[in-house]
Amino acid sequence: MTCAKHRIAALFLLLFFFSPAGMVAAKDKDRIPTTLDGPFRPATRRFDPSLRRGSDDLPMNDPRLAKKVRSPFPEQIALAASYSPTSMWVSWVTGDAQIGKNVTPMDPSTVASEVWYGEESGKYSFVKRGTATVYSQLYPFEGLLNYTSAIIHHVRLEGLKLGKRYYYKCGDSSLKALSKEHTFETFPSSSPNMYPRRIAVVGDLGLTGNTTTTIDHLSQNNPSIFLMVGDLSYANQYLTTGGKGAPCFSCAFPDAPIRETYQPRWDGWGRFMEPLTSKIPMMVIEGNHEIEPQVGGMSFKSYLARFAVPSEECGSNSSFYYSFNAGGVHFIMLGAYVDYNQSGAQYAWLKADLHQVDRQVTPWLVAAWHPPWYNSYSSHYQEFECMRQEMEALLYQHGVDIVFSGHVHAYERMNRVFNYTLDRCGPVYITVGDGGNIEQIDIDHADDPGKCPSKSANIPEFGGVCHLNFSSGPAKGKFCWEQQPEWSAFRESSFGHGILEVINSTYALWTWHRNQDIYGENSSGDQIYIVRQPELCLMNIGDVTPRTCSYSSPQCSSSNQCASQGVQYIYLFSLLIIGSLCVILGELWKTMFFW
Ligand SMILES: [Fe+2]
Repeated sequence: MTCAKHRIAALFLLLFFFSPAGMVAAKDKDRIPTTLDGPFRPATRRFDPSLRRGSDDLPMNDPRLAKKVRSPFPEQIALAASYSPTSMWVSWVTGDAQIGKNVTPMDPSTVASEVWYGEESGKYSFVKRGTATVYSQLYPFEGLLNYTSAIIHHVRLEGLKLGKRYYYKCGDSSLKALSKEHTFETFPSSSPNMYPRRIAVVGDLGLTGNTTTTIDHLSQNNPSIFLMVGDLSYANQYLTTGGKGAPCFSCAFPDAPIRETYQPRWDGWGRFMEPLTSKIPMMVIEGNHEIEPQVGGMSFKSYLARFAVPSEECGSNSSFYYSFNAGGVHFIMLGAYVDYNQSGAQYAWLKADLHQVDRQVTPWLVAAWHPPWYNSYSSHYQEFECMRQEMEALLYQHGVDIVFSGHVHAYERMNRVFNYTLDRCGPVYITVGDGGNIEQIDIDHADDPGKCPSKSANIPEFGGVCHLNFSSGPAKGKFCWEQQPEWSAFRESSFGHGILEVINSTYALWTWHRNQDIYGENSSGDQIYIVRQPELCLMNIGDVTPRTCSYSSPQCSSSNQCASQGVQYIYLFSLLIIGSLCVILGELWKTMFFW
């Protein structure tokens, strides 16, 4: 009889584990949270002191930075998406850059810009020709060296089939100087049911030992597109004579007559990135390290010459801000270092671009720019408050879902927020300026004792200063909070990168990968389903009525409550089924034993 009891208990236990209730209970333990569970109580994981806060740049003689082809063969090959998935930009460099007192720019017309491509390896049915350019970085100061670039080529492929693999070579066929074969895949059509496989996001990359880990891990995650949210090569951590880069330029070189750069670092960066950028499109936006002032008040010359972006196709006609589609996602890349005021060209373009987005075709609206608006670290605290004040309402009115930024060298994910107030329809702001550059990781929070920066500490390189004291909430009347602000859901000082996987028109999985985590262990520094609620948030585009909420209020998210209730109902129903099964099995048991 005791044995029978054990058998019954084992049977019940088995039934429970395989029942929906058991599965729900087990699953709930490891369940990935969703934004519907939020807003979340602010959480901080502090910097692991066993890790180094930074590392040196790779030297120019590192094999990954060295030129591997002879002129005029192509190198530094990079792809960029066009506005439409039927087009793709291919860029590369030929020839040799010069650096010295006297430099003579190359003639870009001496090497053709051709891309030979087709759907089968080795068979290039199509050829497309493009344009070539050079740029110079000139410093009219005693002892400083000048630079003039090799020839930079840009070709826009058109008429590509959707969701197809293409094989291509680039270069000049008349000089018998074509690259080896590379391959890429076009995006699916813009539709609520089709999405890019994985969207990688990283900022403030540089080219240090930490950068190499970030890019290794990012490549292992096999993304289909790569958002590079500003501060790319950090060539401006060097004197024009090269040598060793410094984590702090003004500290290391206080007598420099201008913020110098060592432009060959850009060439090294392009070579280092080529294995990734020749396969998947890299979408760049400018950061402060791209400003690079030079003779005649000119700036951004390297950024503008080296990177193709779909500015013409999207109607912005400025490489400083643009938009494009990838499957059912409309991406908007904004410029923080050009006029962002409501009276300016960027704002007018943004307004028109947002107006034409059809959320039935591209349900997801993802924006990115370099300096974050929401940031609780001491570094760059409230630095771009003027930009936020000019543009935030417009993005909120149009239901932007996610905003990615860099600039702060750490990770931070915000609760949904609008105008510093928790809001169910505000975007999810995420800072990923943790790519691994030479300037080191940021570890201080503005709410740490003694770490609130002075109002003169964080002055932007462009635009005005609009620092403010909060007008409501726990920090009312103060410049800094005394604890982690309620709009900051999670923050951690660590190097890493993020991957966004859009699952359908309302769910996307965001995973932040830390460099110190070992891959294959399914580990992540932060993971959450970002859930859109179009029925709640897209009722009236143009409406700025806030949908405020708080983590202390049970009325915060109706959908969240529904979700919780749903789980409870499944649980009760499962218990009912188990009960019934137990009775039936008990009867069967008796029949078998006493028959
Ligand atoms: Fe920056």
